[in-house]
Amino acid sequence: MIVAIDGPAGSGKSAVGRRVAEALGLPFVDSGLMYRAIALLALERGLEPTDGAALSRLAHQVRLKVDGRKVWIDGDDYTDRVYSPELSEAASLVGKVAGVRLALVAQQRALGRPGVVMAGRDIGTVVFPDTLHKFFLTASVEERARRRAAQIDARGEQADPAQLRREVEERDRRDSQRSVAPMRAADDATVIDTNQLDLEATVAEVLRHIREQS
Ligand code: DC
Repeated sequence: MIVAIDGPAGSGKSAVGRRVAEALGLPFVDSGLMYRAIALLALERGLEPTDGAALSRLAHQVRLKVDGRKVWIDGDDYTDRVYSPELSEAASLVGKVAGVRLALVAQQRALGRPGVVMAGRDIGTVVFPDTLHKFFLTASVEERARRRAAQIDARGEQADPAQLRREVEERDRRDSQRSVAPMRAADDATVIDTNQLDLEATVAEVLRHIREQS
């Protein structure tokens, strides 16, 4: 079984995906981690986020491994470094490059055999368009910025709410307006508005739909 969970930054797709995967006994893959990993390597190597050819080469050369919230690049654990706001921004820029997407989509499809719950922006539209189980999570910009602030707070760091909101809006705009694989709900996706739903309730809703679709 393949379950695709897409949605914008802060919509809860990773937390929900992880729980749904646990309930179904499937592996969970957060595809955003793969874009973050390429962005991190690009920064380390001084590549410009607009240098499509160099970024595509990089994405085709490196060996990525993702497991839950963890990511390894060529065998080294990079988890601690990929969650910063700087990397969120850089990953969104790297995600505009067609060659990078080509390399990562191939790896994502390989990870989908024999079954997976995968979170991202284009899982239902591009990576696994044939699966029956497609979800698109949404929430208002205010709510998503509030969730981001809570995550940062939980790490004992300071967050500026106005700045977070601007970052979320900018990432929404870039991810949904890029020419290759823009973020959008697949025509046959179940759209779930999570403004009034907590994690438990959203997971229950996804599992209920999967049971009905099976
Ligand atoms: O889900 P995330 O916040 O970790 O993703 C970081 C960026 O990576 C996101 O802003 C756009 C890009 N991305 C993508 O283009 N396609 C995906 N399937 C997942 C992430």
